[in-house]
Amino acid sequence: MSKSRFLTQFIQRGKTVGSVTPSSRFLARKIIEHIPFERMDVLVELGPGTGAFTPFLLHKMKPDARLFLVELNEVFYQELVEKIQDPRVCIIHGSATDLCQMIHDQGLSEVDVIVSSVPLSILSSSLRKEILEASRKALKNKGIFVQFQYSLQSRKKILNLYGNMKLGFTLWNFPPAFVYTCTK
Ligand SMILES: C[S@@+](CC[C@H](N)C(=O)[O-])C[C@H]1O[C@@H](n2cnc3c(N)ncnc32)[C@H](O)[C@@H]1O
Repeated sequence: MSKSRFLTQFIQRGKTVGSVTPSSRFLARKIIEHIPFERMDVLVELGPGTGAFTPFLLHKMKPDARLFLVELNEVFYQELVEKIQDPRVCIIHGSATDLCQMIHDQGLSEVDVIVSSVPLSILSSSLRKEILEASRKALKNKGIFVQFQYSLQSRKKILNLYGNMKLGFTLWNFPPAFVYTCTK
């Protein structure tokens, strides 16, 4: 179901969906590889889509940690609401650009980790900058930012923002993907 819904959304809203199919479990494992879950209380997923990474995060998260899912696409948002029953999760329909306001509305000032699937390479440079800066601002010191991309297009911009980066890669995704993990 998720796969056909994803393709339909790509056809209708390719400029924000950015992929024809959900990410693989191999990419999900790369995404979580460098997250020290035992120290993470507040986690955020930007652009969770149909939830390809969400169960992997939930499986590793502490029982009292919280996960905020921020999804722009109405159809994906509805699917997440129907599918994810975990009490640690809060699903927000909106844009990653508003992340700081969203966490403030939840009574929080900072978060420990942000996993972003937002398709940076197909966004305008101003929107990309806005999302990357909002993410960095929302992270606490020593917080972790994880982003995947199908090319190395935004690697330098993200590296300049954080000053450090672990680079991962998996062939076992369509398309194959790079994973950036940075510490604030
Ligand atoms: C390449 S898909 C990845 C979906 C999922 N994480 C996966 O790996 O299968 C990108 C996702 O980012 C969402 N998205 C795009 N722009 C966004 C924004 N400004 N704020 C929040 N989500 C956004 C899209 O709707 C889509 O769900």
